[in-house]
Amino acid sequence: MADTATPPVIRRADYAPPAFLIDTVALEFDLIPDRTVVRNTMRVRRNPQASRAARLELMGEQLEFVSAAVDGQPFAGAHAHEHGLLLDNVPDDFELTLTSICDPVANTTLSGLYVSGGNFFTQCEAEGFRRITYFLDRPDVMATYTVTLRASKADYPVLLSNGNLLEEGDLPDGRHFARWEDPFRKPSYLFALVAGKLVALEERVKSGSGKDKLLQVWVEPHDLDKTRHAMDSLIHSIRWDEERFGLELDLDRFMIVAVSDFNMGAMENKGLNIFNTKYVLANPETATDTDFANIEAVVGHEYFHNWTGNRVTCRDWFQLSLKEGLTVFRDQEFSADMAGGASDEAARATKRIEDVRVLRQMQFAEDAGPMAHPVRPESYVEINNFYTMTVYEKGSEVVRMYQTLFGRDGFRKGMDLYFKRHDGQAVTCDDFRHALADANGRDLAQFERWYSQAGTPRVSVRTQYDAAQQQYNVTLTQGYGEAAPAARETQKGPLPIPFAIGLIGKDGADLPLQLQGETAASASTTRVLEFTQAEQTFTFVNVAQEPLPSLLRNFSAPVIVEYDYSEEELAFLLAHDSDPFNRWEAGQRLATRELLTLAARAATGAPLQLDDSVVAAFARVLTDESLSPSFRELALMLPSEAYLAEQMPESNPAAVHAARQFVRKRLANALKGDWLKVYEQHRTPGEYEATPEAAGHRALKNLALTYLAELDDPAEAVRLASAQYDAANNMTDRSVALAALLNAAAANGGSAEAQKALDDFYQRFEKEPLVIDKWFALQATQRGSAQRPVIDVVRKLMSHPAFNLKNPNRARSLIFSFCAANPAQFHAEDGSGYAFWADQVIALDAINPQVAARLARSLELWRRFTPTLRDSMRAALEKVASQVKSRDVREIVEKALA
Ligand code: TRP
Ligand code: ZN
Repeated sequence: MADTATPPVIRRADYAPPAFLIDTVALEFDLIPDRTVVRNTMRVRRNPQASRAARLELMGEQLEFVSAAVDGQPFAGAHAHEHGLLLDNVPDDFELTLTSICDPVANTTLSGLYVSGGNFFTQCEAEGFRRITYFLDRPDVMATYTVTLRASKADYPVLLSNGNLLEEGDLPDGRHFARWEDPFRKPSYLFALVAGKLVALEERVKSGSGKDKLLQVWVEPHDLDKTRHAMDSLIHSIRWDEERFGLELDLDRFMIVAVSDFNMGAMENKGLNIFNTKYVLANPETATDTDFANIEAVVGHEYFHNWTGNRVTCRDWFQLSLKEGLTVFRDQEFSADMAGGASDEAARATKRIEDVRVLRQMQFAEDAGPMAHPVRPESYVEINNFYTMTVYEKGSEVVRMYQTLFGRDGFRKGMDLYFKRHDGQAVTCDDFRHALADANGRDLAQFERWYSQAGTPRVSVRTQYDAAQQQYNVTLTQGYGEAAPAARETQKGPLPIPFAIGLIGKDGADLPLQLQGETAASASTTRVLEFTQAEQTFTFVNVAQEPLPSLLRNFSAPVIVEYDYSEEELAFLLAHDSDPFNRWEAGQRLATRELLTLAARAATGAPLQLDDSVVAAFARVLTDESLSPSFRELALMLPSEAYLAEQMPESNPAAVHAARQFVRKRLANALKGDWLKVYEQHRTPGEYEATPEAAGHRALKNLALTYLAELDDPAEAVRLASAQYDAANNMTDRSVALAALLNAAAANGGSAEAQKALDDFYQRFEKEPLVIDKWFALQATQRGSAQRPVIDVVRKLMSHPAFNLKNPNRARSLIFSFCAANPAQFHAEDGSGYAFWADQVIALDAINPQVAARLARSLELWRRFTPTLRDSMRAALEKVASQVKSRDVREIVEKALA
């Protein structure tokens, strides 16, 4: 996009079916790094469902047009232009053969066909296929593909594409070929090829119905020792989808390929998933417990797309959440089942808490800013900008609400009907909703608003107990508060909100629940209230004592709950709520309230103090051996600085940092003995195990170390951290020890130990790019001091020989970590962080617009900050707006400034 004219807006309302359909595609590739020749033979016909178009308009980008033939005859009516190919006066049904050339080595966008580490890879979602060949590159054009790959046998011994291998063999001049066929019709965004020097870990498994399946995880040879966990995750995913949804793998072979240059996490290409190495490679020495869990989740996610996304796909890109929201829901359920099965509520709650944390921290923030959009957006400039927290995470919450309403069995019935109706089709979010409604005999018309309204709903709660009548009234009111303008425009009326509630008695036990009009109390002490109006009162009867309400149990809807709990009530819920999610939630509310009060004081320079009762509430969790270690870790982790800053009337990162640090220090010093005890008790000696239990112990022990590093006298913590660093047999322990040393060094001392560990870490892992990413990230997110602001460290690391702006993982590890995960340093009063940000967005814009646009988003909430910061943020945004060229980044900064 070299032009400066305002890029066009694509609108959902303008959807029209394609004028032509393509039924079969035969692709031939002569793979040469800087000049790959692609011959594409398609069977094309007019779409009976569309009005008659004068010509065929194919999309194409960065292609050199060579020739066109219709039914085998050279065709003179083809006109290539910057965005595609026009073909005049074509027949109604014909064979079209197009030849074009592309340049994979020069392709730094990592969209289309590109070279990474000397091997060829593709990335076609959303609109990368048009960078490979001219095509109707839209998801409602589905075809079967045959792919022939030809390349130098010495340089590219492995040749892969979607589906089944038909044939392979040698060619003259040291070249060879492979021919692949994908029997399933698919949209072009699911096409993939890989060619290069790769090796595979292989397993043969039998599917539920007894068919043999070949599973492969392809990596560079030196990474073969890090593929076991990804393979196990794949096998577990296959079993899980059979058991929970009755969905079987439909190909004879399923391949995962890892690549180190990749824009996102992974891609669900049919039968040939391509993954960022970060979500494949793991062994105990190089990967943390979080990495292991993320790999399981992403492998599951991409595998589950085979049915939710591939067999049933999206009609157009506005329906993206049809596949992404649903597939995130499925991967979340998979991870929960893997950790705790269907019945271990505490283990399931851990996963739920982690997911809700992400939603509230990231999606709620998105909904409060200029990029706010509904789960099914109404318009976009660049679709890559809409692979968002809203489409993915809020979309998943919307799917989860169906399950909350209908139960697991009702949800399953809906899924079964969805596949029965739509297998092989490209459909809409409405189609999914209708399947759920029809399978459960319910009207879900109002539910459509969850797809069309942006902004985070707020539910305020009023309660009233009538002792004489033994009745308890719960009045719920819904609205959006002061939504961002982008969200406000979309809001039309009340949402149907499944609102799960419990009532807790004085002894801490749940009370029986009976709603007015019912003859008896229900078996469960949690009820899902169907809250569908602007305001609604629910009356519980036979309530023998005034209860304490436990609201929105298990976070049954993606909303903000407003209710005036006292500090004592929150402490009581933290100690007693039978719903583990709400137990955690009570602690978070308590901490958030204290931290916001302290931040407001810090903003005015007032002295800070923390009540002993708050310290006591934390101490009870810390020392309660009946709670699982992973729950204790989550409950003792304070809300993030970014989340807290967002809750302030005016975001003040420095004040939030001061408040949060004050509390951390106070908890560290006041509970030193307990932290030390927990640290010793939860060591995991012996061989590393990646199980959730072992990970829970490590997490709690490492949290203790992190708190100990805050002590006024950190000598003991520095000793412990150094010892842990040296003795570690796994990356979780080693990286946390290094982080603790860095933070202690910034605050109080031990800088020699920190530097020693930092140098050791680099040397030890020099040959492991994913670990070197951690080395950069740890430094970018470390605490700064007045003498040593982190921006100086980051600027210096930018010229480290191992830094490389073209590699997205590396760019993220240094630049994104600093700009998005170190708010106190990034938002430095002098604007140095913003100037750095602007330079990097501009530099990335010329290399990789998708990655640049992600970085561009780190300033979008600028209007909510304190005046000084706001002004320098605006200046940085304006600088970027005046210099960037891609429509990706322009959409982001123009929306931010509008
Ligand atoms: N569909 C992918 C997923 O969610 C994500 C994806 C979309 C992607 N566009 C991409 C991945 C571009 C890499 C590059 O699983
Ligand atoms: Zn996905």
